[in-house]
Amino acid sequence: MVTREAFESLQELLRRRTGVVLDDGKEYLVRARLGPLVRREGLGSIGELAALVNDRPEAPLSRRVIEALMTTETSFFRDVHPFSSLKERLIPELVEKRGATRRLQLWSAACSTGQEPYSVAIVLREYFPHLASWEVRILASDVSGAVLERARMGRYSQMEINRGVPTHLLVRYFHREGLQWEVSENIRRMIDFREINLAEPWPLLPSMDVIFLRNVLIYFDDRLRRRVLERIARQLEPDGYLFVGGAETMMAYPDLFERVEMGRSSCYRPRR
Ligand SMILES: C[S@@+](CC[C@H](N)C(=O)[O-])C[C@H]1O[C@@H](n2cnc3c(N)ncnc32)[C@H](O)[C@@H]1O
Repeated sequence: MVTREAFESLQELLRRRTGVVLDDGKEYLVRARLGPLVRREGLGSIGELAALVNDRPEAPLSRRVIEALMTTETSFFRDVHPFSSLKERLIPELVEKRGATRRLQLWSAACSTGQEPYSVAIVLREYFPHLASWEVRILASDVSGAVLERARMGRYSQMEINRGVPTHLLVRYFHREGLQWEVSENIRRMIDFREINLAEPWPLLPSMDVIFLRNVLIYFDDRLRRRVLERIARQLEPDGYLFVGGAETMMAYPDLFERVEMGRSSCYRPRR
């Protein structure tokens, strides 16, 4: 049971701290996600947890509540098309354009447990081996320290691997660690994991050639979505590219981005 009062205070906490809107009617989600935390903390109910967090919103417990409430669904090579576009068009084009600086900077801006940035790194390593002599950096960030910790470890269950990693890439870029698969060191080295809250002021970041901002805008309200996209547009190189999730339309932002025809990927360029 989640009381109205508890649900509303959790909605407010999540929105204030991350911009994520928990829609009315999602009480079942709160029950499923916070039940284990209530038990771990030795509390009697979600109401008790909500009251504690309400009293001390800055305490570590409220962070754990936020992390538990977050949707962190992801998978390797999710939706396939953005990764084939990277391989077939974007990277070849950027390699040609950046020949003078020999530098590429990519960003997975809500990376969850890391499958997205690792997929990007694997594409670069597998299909563009000559980039090993370039300065290629992938920034991978998320608001949740819990998912970032898992992302940094780079260890995945067989089930997570089965959701997207083809066998020929599994044998080349992962090795067994007990019951899990660990991403190889040369792939991990390409990625910097950092905590960045998209809803708050960002740290100083380099200009990006490619940004993956997938399946996170859907959780924000219209105002925050626009604010984040304005900043994303400024963070991209003028000839850089943005990928959003398959269900995320950019029709409301023709002033900020133009769609780039790239097969079935949702790929955009900033307007200047
Ligand atoms: C559904 S996952 C998407 C993961 C990956 N981009 C993908 O498409 O597979 C959404 C992620 O957004 C993160 N997130 C939510 N609000 C955020 C914010 N304000 N700043 C940064 N990340 C946020 C969540 O922690 C979660 O890991």
